[in-house]
Amino acid sequence: MEFKKLVQKYGSPLYVYDFNHFESQFHKLKSAFKGKKSLIAYAVKSNSNLSVIKQFGDLGAGADCVSIGEVKRALKVGIKKYNIIFSGVGKLDSELEEALKLGILFINIESEAEMKRIEMIADRLDIEARISVRVNPNIDPQTHPYISTGLHENKFGVDIESAKRIYIYAKNSPHLNPVGIHFHIGSQLTQLEPIREASEKIANLVRHLKILKIDLKFFDVGGGLGIKYSDEVLIEPYDYAQAIFSTLSGLDVTIVMEPGRFLTANGGYFLTSVLYEKQNNGDKRFLMVDGAMNDLLRPSLYNAYHKIEYQTKSKNNQSSKADIVGPICESGDFFGKDREVPVEIQHGDLVIVHSAGSYGFVMSSNYNTRGRVAEVSLKDGEDRIIRERETFEKVIELEEKFL
Ligand code: LLP
Repeated sequence: MEFKKLVQKYGSPLYVYDFNHFESQFHKLKSAFKGKKSLIAYAVKSNSNLSVIKQFGDLGAGADCVSIGEVKRALKVGIKKYNIIFSGVGKLDSELEEALKLGILFINIESEAEMKRIEMIADRLDIEARISVRVNPNIDPQTHPYISTGLHENKFGVDIESAKRIYIYAKNSPHLNPVGIHFHIGSQLTQLEPIREASEKIANLVRHLKILKIDLKFFDVGGGLGIKYSDEVLIEPYDYAQAIFSTLSGLDVTIVMEPGRFLTANGGYFLTSVLYEKQNNGDKRFLMVDGAMNDLLRPSLYNAYHKIEYQTKSKNNQSSKADIVGPICESGDFFGKDREVPVEIQHGDLVIVHSAGSYGFVMSSNYNTRGRVAEVSLKDGEDRIIRERETFEKVIELEEKFL
């Protein structure tokens, strides 16, 4: 890929997304569920650029949203309301009201208190709210603690006994219609067994509810499928699907999935350019680039590993260890530590940070009054800008009028 040309055309730093990769990931997952009723609800949070959401919508995806803003993004690009779900551990009354008025597929509730609020709002609007309950199966997903959600020690969902109470209450309420069940045990999952176990626990609950005449139509298995950042051994979509099917015997449900990272991470590249090099104390080598933690936070926040590549003008292919760091005044501002970096690398040479399509741009900020960078899509060899670089004027726009 001609990354150098893209940087010349659109500037540096830059996010680039390979839409063909997005598409092929979508098809891999969809075909694993072939022959079963299923809905891939793209987890908008992983990359919420409108053109990205539209691409998934055009392929037939729904949307998993965690704010009313995300719901409105999905609607804006043409995703049908009956393919949109609204999740999240703490929704605002105003968000619930808007979601109910919009008539989306269902709202995933995360507590008894939230159910009561939805009931109250639905009563006031004189409508019936379609809900699904996020159940916390208390299973260790064996992933990074910051992105692990399926244990009782995490703030997410309700335990199985509370879920039963909620469903019974909802069934008897004229303003609540329990249509689904939801679990999501964590992100960047590379082990199949915890998913199968969680699915089994939740499916058993669905069977139990059926006996109580509570017939759920949607079995929402959340997101979380892992991707290759370095040498991870991954779950194959086919095995993932089979593991879920194996727990659903006797149930006639539509399987809903909420993948984010699996669809977008490895189609994204963060392109940044070399500013300078420096050596501290004569031996510690730093490569300073124009991108920073405000643009791509994952290494700083999670100590996450992202593969990094270099395109230099030099023919010398020797390398030595260095930290790749940004210009922000924080020691945590780095993309990689102790990595092999070409010994001859100059101002303007290109540095490519891989696996940046998920939780990259969306977690960026204006820290240090740095404008958010531009985003570009690549499809069938064509590049297209899908978000402009923020100017200084744009960054101060909402403050300036108060001077
Ligand atoms: N569904 C629910 C309820 C979620 O909480 C999440 C992610 C997803 C779906 C999508 O998960 P995925 O398929 O992308 O793993 N910022 C972190 C990731 C946070 C994930 C939060 N929830 C990171 O950069 O690794």
